[in-house]
Amino acid sequence: LNSTVTLHNGVHMPQFGLGVYKMEDGNETAQAVKNAIDLGYRHIDTASVYKNEEGVGQGIKDSGVPREEIFVTSKVWNDEQGYESTIEAFNNSLKRLDLEYLDLYLVHWPVPGKYKETWKALEQLYKDGKVKAIGVSNFLVHHLDDLLEDVEIKPMINQIELHPELAQTELRNYCAQHNIHVTAWSPLARGKYFEAPVLQSIAEKYGKTPAQVILRWDLQHGIITIPKSTNKDRQKQNADLFDFELTAEELARIDELDKGEEGRNGPHPDEFDY
Ligand code: A2P
Repeated sequence: LNSTVTLHNGVHMPQFGLGVYKMEDGNETAQAVKNAIDLGYRHIDTASVYKNEEGVGQGIKDSGVPREEIFVTSKVWNDEQGYESTIEAFNNSLKRLDLEYLDLYLVHWPVPGKYKETWKALEQLYKDGKVKAIGVSNFLVHHLDDLLEDVEIKPMINQIELHPELAQTELRNYCAQHNIHVTAWSPLARGKYFEAPVLQSIAEKYGKTPAQVILRWDLQHGIITIPKSTNKDRQKQNADLFDFELTAEELARIDELDKGEEGRNGPHPDEFDY
């Protein structure tokens, strides 16, 4: 559960974590985060736009696990982008989380004309030791090409919508070439195609669920994965991935579910209403 990947700056990041998108601030988030940590989760992924950073911070405190043992990610929202406003947004996230530093801070979406200045702010926060790693989210190859022309510090992460029907092979290959690790958001695609025969048959073979098969596919492809669940039983199920291994042939059969752009459920980064 706590196997890590090593980012290009040497930071160890748990490959598995809890996403908290759409969890309500306060009790719901605090309880879900505490439950997950009780189950052994050591990586929590939030964002200022989720409006639940206070709940995340509370859940971490309630767990009693030392802060340094938990990997915490947040993100700068689109209307906070720009150099000064990003520094301010970061400090506000820290305050709401009631933490002294973040493990990872991401540019949430590639806001045209804004993300390079935003990136400079992340570089500064990183140099100041306020965040252990920095990265981007929802960046396509052309955004990364553009950003990499100017950076002093390369992003360590690109967090993107990724699941078997949107396998993002080209973008994953590009990131691999640049030592950028990929995190999958909405890894379960909200269960939309758990009925797919290939997932059903592989799940049956191992006595696992389609959700576990998908998450195992992430791990074996080197993808960092952050399934969201507020339910403790499903949190437990989602973390129970370390007693089986998919064969190369099974991975390839799951790869075949890829539908390219048609598999996308969230907004396309070039069509987002910024
Ligand atoms: P819940 O929080 O009630 O468990 P995504 O990967 O797209 O973010 O999917 C998250 C959604 O899938 C949430 O609505 C969550 O609901 C549900 N979910 C999470 N884990 C599982 C699971 N193991 N089986 C079925 N549904 C799940």
